[in-house]
Amino acid sequence: MTARSVLKVLESRPVTEGAGVRLRRAFGHGETEQLDPFLMLDHFRSSHPRDYEAGFPFHPHRGIETVTYVLSGRMEHQDSLGNRGSIGPGDVQWMTAGSGILHQEMPRVTSEGLHGFQLWVNLPRAKKMMPPRYRDVRSADILSVGLGPGAIGRVIAGRLGDRSGPVKDLVVEVGLFEAELEAGARIAVPAPGGHSAFVYVFEGEGLIGGGGTRVGPRSTAVMGAGGMVELEAGKEGCRCLMAHGAPLNEPIAWGGPIVMNTKQELDEAFEELRLGTFIRPR
Ligand code: CO
Repeated sequence: MTARSVLKVLESRPVTEGAGVRLRRAFGHGETEQLDPFLMLDHFRSSHPRDYEAGFPFHPHRGIETVTYVLSGRMEHQDSLGNRGSIGPGDVQWMTAGSGILHQEMPRVTSEGLHGFQLWVNLPRAKKMMPPRYRDVRSADILSVGLGPGAIGRVIAGRLGDRSGPVKDLVVEVGLFEAELEAGARIAVPAPGGHSAFVYVFEGEGLIGGGGTRVGPRSTAVMGAGGMVELEAGKEGCRCLMAHGAPLNEPIAWGGPIVMNTKQELDEAFEELRLGTFIRPR
């Protein structure tokens, strides 16, 4: 399998989201042409309650999936499906908004602060209006896999070595892994040909791809075509999220938390929000 090279490196940038959460956007609107089906990746990390305590009060989603992965701290959630609970260190919430969901995500103030991610995966035209679905994955169900000397991975979705992630029956075929490498450790992770792929380095530095492009902390390597994604950790070691996904190749009409195929579908969604008919009866 050929090693993918790095098409481009996207630096994350500070943004304020929700009711005033200061986080870093790894990538988002206008940057995802080569990342289809991925739409957005946010990285929140702070030990100062003022940066995150305002949280993300009730807001709608339609046409996408939101994947929340907490590394430390705790996030309380509640939604229009009647789900209510919290996710803590190592847990994942895989939420398929489909035809529509209203939810809130409120961080709990803890001594360790809050550290985690939210990834948005687009849904194809045929599934945008599917019944919403919600999956809570506990840390204990996310298996670790050795990736070679000094390197370990966690498999959230897809296959890595002989391990499969606990999130199954995905609408869009996606692999999502976390990897932690000691200084100088090297890994090669398969990403099926034809899939889009990225590596978000959130700690340390990595030399990524066939050409060994240096990717610093809080930056995304957008990978070109090929089979494997190769990564060698810099002298501080490296922690990253790695993902691959089957592209949808469909038009995108993006209105904040709602992502459809056409402007008309977006207008309908916002009209339904005004009329109170956004949430479909089950
Ligand atoms: Co949300």
